[in-house]
Amino acid sequence: MSERTLVLIKPDAVSRGLVGEILARYERKGLSIVAMDQRTIDASLSDAHYAEHVGKPFYPGLRDFVTSGPLVALVLEGDQAIDVVRQMNGATDSRAAAPGTIRGDLSLSKSENLVHASDSADSAKRELALWFPSLAG
Ligand code: CMP
Repeated sequence: MSERTLVLIKPDAVSRGLVGEILARYERKGLSIVAMDQRTIDASLSDAHYAEHVGKPFYPGLRDFVTSGPLVALVLEGDQAIDVVRQMNGATDSRAAAPGTIRGDLSLSKSENLVHASDSADSAKRELALWFPSLAG
């Protein structure tokens, strides 16, 4: 079933010049880019996006990181896109992410892990509405 998922190419990927490499992987897989926008977000969008993590010990560092510079938000579409993109991204902790995944190939950091993707149909719906309200429907 065709799905849409929200992906963030985080500030570490932008500053390292990895946006093209990461986009190319998604495109080669056959996913379609429905929307894409480079922006620098403020703390309130970070708090809304990561609502389930606000209050956790690592959250202040995560908020500083995601608001530190430009990121690229995109909507990807394709068959089972939510699960496919999560598999392509790899484990959250890049040190444990499998070779062949974006994090496994390109990052060695637990927290600065290059990409974010919606983890379920419910979170995709919530995140798409938050980041791209004009697409909600
Ligand atoms: P992401 O997929 O964007 O979802 C939550 C983010 O929090 C995660 O990627 C990491 O960047 C970060 N994160 C999750 N767990 C930890 C942790 N234990 N320590 C530091 N950062 C974390």
